[in-house]
Amino acid sequence: MDSKPVTDWTTDYDILDPDYVADPYPVWDDLRGQCPIAHSDRWGGSWLPTKYSDVQRIAQDHAHFSSIDVGVLSFTDEERPPPPIDIPLHPIDADQPVHTWTRRLLLPWFSHTRVEQYEPYTRELCNRLIDGFIESGSADAAGDYARQIPVRVISLIIGVPEDMADTFTGWVQDVLEFAHDEARVARGRDALIAYLLGLLAERRANPGDDLMSDLLHAEVDGEPVADLIVMGIVALTIIAGVDTTWSSIGSAMLHLATHPDDAQRLLDEPEIMPLAIEELLRAYSPVTMARITVEDIEVAGCPMKAGDKVLMNFPGANRDPEMFEHPDDVILDRAQNRHVAFGAGIHRCAGSNLARMELRVAVEEWIKRIPSFRLADNAEVTWAGGQVRGPRQVPVVF
Ligand code: HEM
Repeated sequence: MDSKPVTDWTTDYDILDPDYVADPYPVWDDLRGQCPIAHSDRWGGSWLPTKYSDVQRIAQDHAHFSSIDVGVLSFTDEERPPPPIDIPLHPIDADQPVHTWTRRLLLPWFSHTRVEQYEPYTRELCNRLIDGFIESGSADAAGDYARQIPVRVISLIIGVPEDMADTFTGWVQDVLEFAHDEARVARGRDALIAYLLGLLAERRANPGDDLMSDLLHAEVDGEPVADLIVMGIVALTIIAGVDTTWSSIGSAMLHLATHPDDAQRLLDEPEIMPLAIEELLRAYSPVTMARITVEDIEVAGCPMKAGDKVLMNFPGANRDPEMFEHPDDVILDRAQNRHVAFGAGIHRCAGSNLARMELRVAVEEWIKRIPSFRLADNAEVTWAGGQVRGPRQVPVVF
């Protein structure tokens, strides 16, 4: 499906084209110049804005752009039969008013104070991972490092043992990275739901200090929260908290492996670290979401019909020269940096404090122990794309 090569990116883009996944920036530059909101019939059809101002405007306008279907790929009903049990992924797929109260239930788990409590574990984890390969002089900075970190921190928040990490990662890949493959999506989704049903029974019998136990005791307007919503919030935490940050850490490692001066600068000037983290998030933003238009609406001269899908191209917005000077340069201490890597408006990332902490700690611990490293000779860097874009394999030597 959709395998014919793209000849016109303004009318027929393919977000899963392997060259685009590996390097989408020239395509967005071209589109911004000639057709800032492109359209394609592939993958169910969608619009692709490339300018910061358009992406920002759509993200803020939740009255006209609904979140009922945030997946970047669409399927007809015959292509994807409905699952036996489905769970909502609130708050990300909810509009107001449900969005407001489901988001409120989750936010305390990702406050600054909570995230500080997860930091010592994250630091110890990064060092444990580095211990595993430092003697060998080589590693896959994406597979052996970036991929291993966020899923373990999420396991801690859910109160399950670290040895669930590979299983969770597999399910998240099934539903996000392989969203174009019916069988894999069904496999990942059904296994995750079955697991959450078991966890629900277990937490109801033996509550602990974890996200699901907390949600099971929560009340909204004097009523307990329905089981399916509790399961959905925990499922979203796993789905949104793993691949996203893994991709950001992987891109940061790839950047530092290919820009040794920047790695050295972070060692010499640790005070710029907070700015550097924002810059790495901007330049290599991993996440694209979608919206559905509620009624016919025109955006920057484009006539969108009710029910159309619009891709929230946060990564493209973050490379818009109208918003960022020299957007393709990574300037570690960039001062003006109102990036939208975490989105904008009511759905802005609920886990951004956690993501920033994990990215900062992962970079700090690596450069402390492995200050000088580079891509291995003939290294093959591979990419995943679509909803979340990031490097899957970054072979480095040191
Ligand atoms: C670098 C890592 C991350 C990036 C770039 C990122 C990006 C985003 C973006 C762009 C959105 C907006 C969605 C929309 O507009 O439809 C979002 C929402 C969300 N993110 Fe993240 N995210 C990251 C890490 C995390 C982590 C670690 C968690 C925690 C488990 C998390 C949980 C969420 C949740 C729950 C939402 C939904 C918020 C809502 O709908 O109100 N994210 N994220």
